[in-house]
Amino acid sequence: MAFTVAIDGPAAAGKGTISKAVAARFGFAHLDTGLLYRAVGAKVGDGAEAIAAAKSLSTDDLVRDDLRTLAAGQAASKVAAIPEVRAALVEFQRRFARQDGGAVLDGRDIGTVICPEAAVKLFVTASAEVRARRRWLELGGEAADQPYEAVLAEVKERDERDMNRSDAPLRPATDALILDTSELSIDEAVARAVAAIEAAR
Ligand code: C5P
Repeated sequence: MAFTVAIDGPAAAGKGTISKAVAARFGFAHLDTGLLYRAVGAKVGDGAEAIAAAKSLSTDDLVRDDLRTLAAGQAASKVAAIPEVRAALVEFQRRFARQDGGAVLDGRDIGTVICPEAAVKLFVTASAEVRARRRWLELGGEAADQPYEAVLAEVKERDERDMNRSDAPLRPATDALILDTSELSIDEAVARAVAAIEAAR
């Protein structure tokens, strides 16, 4: 039976970590939907046209090793504002969500647009400063190419674009459980997500 968990929220709030942990715990398949937009953005960086790149996206495009950079995140949020790009990626995500055995999808519009019928919806968030610090530490902290301030500016710019676009803006579904991870450890955040899923099973 299909059982879908939708996990949305802004960049670096902890969606990925929570999604991987609950997928492992319940045996669900996991799709990081940001990767789809990052892959489209990377193809555009190579000179492709965004809508054509989205329509012809293949799983091979998702394994490029340059998809996790700050620049790839910015490129992703630019192509993600184009309605035809979003439309081209809907079916793939819905098919993934419907698979037997359960699925967790994380992104920005899973609970609102892609899977409005999801059994569990979480909106994972944290202050911009906390998220920027986590991303900066992931990038190497003092050894990172970017100072913390540059990462904070990037996080805020991406939030701004994702929340203010007209098609599928970042916002919690009305029936989402809001999980603010600013003051939670990873274990505490995962425990809350697990409890929400157990309550819905
Ligand atoms: O989650 P991640 O940082 O990888 O997402 C990169 C960008 O892709 C986001 O800033 C957002 O603009 C876009 N995105 C989206 N809808 C999703 C997932 C990601 O618009 N479901």
